[in-house]
Amino acid sequence: TEGEPGALRTPIVAVLGHVDHGKTSLLDKIRGSAVHEGEAGAITQHIGSTAVPLDTISDIAGELVDPDDFDLPGLLYIDTPGHHSFSTLRSRGGALADIAILVVDVNDGFQPQTHEAMDILARTGTPFIVAANKIDTVPGWNPEPNRPSKVAIESQSDRVESDLNERLYEIIGQLSSKDISADMYWRVQDFQSNVGVVPVSAETGEGVPDLLTVLMGLSQRYMKDEMAIDVGGPAAGTVLEVKDTQGFGTTIDGVIYDGTIQANDTIVVGAKPNSIVTEVRALLQPKPLAEIRSDEEFEQVSEVAAAEGVKIAAPDLDDAMAGAPIRVVRDRDTSDVVDLVQQELADIEVSTDDDGLTVKADTLGSLEALVSTLEESEIPVMDASVGDVAPRDVRMAETASSSQEQSILAFNVDVLDDAQQLADQEDVRLFGHDVIYRLIEEYEEYVEEIEE
Ligand code: GTP
Ligand code: MG
Repeated sequence: TEGEPGALRTPIVAVLGHVDHGKTSLLDKIRGSAVHEGEAGAITQHIGSTAVPLDTISDIAGELVDPDDFDLPGLLYIDTPGHHSFSTLRSRGGALADIAILVVDVNDGFQPQTHEAMDILARTGTPFIVAANKIDTVPGWNPEPNRPSKVAIESQSDRVESDLNERLYEIIGQLSSKDISADMYWRVQDFQSNVGVVPVSAETGEGVPDLLTVLMGLSQRYMKDEMAIDVGGPAAGTVLEVKDTQGFGTTIDGVIYDGTIQANDTIVVGAKPNSIVTEVRALLQPKPLAEIRSDEEFEQVSEVAAAEGVKIAAPDLDDAMAGAPIRVVRDRDTSDVVDLVQQELADIEVSTDDDGLTVKADTLGSLEALVSTLEESEIPVMDASVGDVAPRDVRMAETASSSQEQSILAFNVDVLDDAQQLADQEDVRLFGHDVIYRLIEEYEEYVEEIEE
């Protein structure tokens, strides 16, 4: 129904919560894949997006969702990482979202990143529901795979039921101590003033039908007006990742949240020092239910309308930054659009000190996360930039005043050969890791060693 008058866009759903509480597993359960396997350090390092069309939601939810009752096209999920160092990515995911699922492990309750996620949702005014996950781990739980949780709970022994209820009321209590009135979703009448708690298992699937039903109902009921965008207007979106795609060179994975992008559009993409103005060469779209980050086959499309994940191939994208804005120019002045993008970019800057470490990361989001984690550990950063370690970074690191700070911390990037040689020659230490806290630990261990 894209482009038809009165067409509604897909609501964007951010999945937020503490590390290991089951965000990725829940999405895996919904889409029947296993993205969380093979993640570095079992921690999701980037935001991914997954489109789930209405028909699929209806298949999963069974009689709970009749497609004829809905005119929203489905839901677009954004997974976010729970590890504490990724607060910027969480916050970007939260800001991009129309609605959110806050995942809370029933055994673990509220944890630091649960609180942080709630603060993001409060700040951005994003409505949310709570998925009380891992109900299958209550001792004595008798699995009722993929059934609505209300039904599955009723068929448990009294002991299991009261054990689970105790944990669920603990979560409801924690929400109420944050001034949020919450209740089991089946008792909630008005989802605008009350947060619904949906008991789920990402492992055995109980509660997944009701979770989707509540999300779909909530979106349809309260977000229909916001979803009625000018689908034909010039697209606005956000870069999730910048990466090489075979046959297309450097491409960007992004989420379009407004308007339409076409295969011949001129676009502006946020970058340093200057934003990129370029022509789209190809729009590549993942098939429905495919995770945009995996190496699935993409198909070329002539246009993509909000809200949808899209891979954009265009010349000169090397300096594009994850987290940066994407804007289609269309009938506007290119320079006006460039100004808009530069302004937005200025809001997501990384601040640095006069003296300290040199830091490299693969995306703007991970760079911000790395720098803010170093800041928390009171480790000064002199220079922070996105991209592989190059000779100029070694030259920069050399200018640090203390020998321990003549180091480069590289997150998830390569070291160019000539940079490695120069570092060896100039005695600049290189630390590389694809898990932020490990990278910092390695550096801290080194500092301890030389201080001894
Ligand atoms: P980060 O991305 O690192 O923040 O974690 P996450 O919230 O995405 O958690 P993930 O889905 O990776 O799950 C963490 C662990 O919990 C994995 O070992 C999962 O198999 C397990 N797990 C997730 N959901 C459930 C559940 O409902 N039941 C059980 N038994 N295990 C679960
Ligand atoms: Mg995850």
